[in-house]
Amino acid sequence: MENIKVLISEEDLNKRVKEVAKEIERDYKDEEIILMCILKGASYFTMDLSKNISHSNVILDFMKVHSYGKNSKETSGKVNIDLIPSEELEGKNVIIVEDILDSGITLNCLYDYIKDMNPKSLKICVLLDKKERRIKDIEADYVGFEIENKFIVGYGMDYNEKCRNLPYVGYVE
Ligand code: IMP
Ligand code: MG
Repeated sequence: MENIKVLISEEDLNKRVKEVAKEIERDYKDEEIILMCILKGASYFTMDLSKNISHSNVILDFMKVHSYGKNSKETSGKVNIDLIPSEELEGKNVIIVEDILDSGITLNCLYDYIKDMNPKSLKICVLLDKKERRIKDIEADYVGFEIENKFIVGYGMDYNEKCRNLPYVGYVE
């Protein structure tokens, strides 16, 4: 693997993920929420986030999408849904939990897809926001960190499926 540098340490991640969980707790009180984890990238973030929401009205669900071709560091622009939700989303509070908001193509597609299922409310929570890269007009309601345009790996995020297991957010030089 190419040279990987630490961008956000494990300690800083833990601290910020706890803060975001508290923001969600404040907004929903003890209302039921479905955290829709977008596999595979958001897996570590979703697990840590959910553990830090202190009421038990939290339901986990999973979707999987892909938009990158093999050996690519860029989206292909076309979003393929590989796994659909297993929960009934109609009338529910749904929060999409995603790793990175980049061009916005993926979240724009996911947002419309879930909106069509008539949830009671729908919000977006991302760990990382590469704001300057946006093509689609979409913003997240909860953001862990705003970052520059770097290629990120670790804490769930991959390059060709590797590096997801790094406990920190790193970037490839
Ligand atoms: P978007 O559709 O361009 O917003 O891209 C979002 C998706 O691309 C995210 O769900 C990530 O899986 C992936 N992605 C974007 N930037 C990176 C990165 O720096 N490292 C790894 N995956 C990334
Ligand atoms: Mg992803």
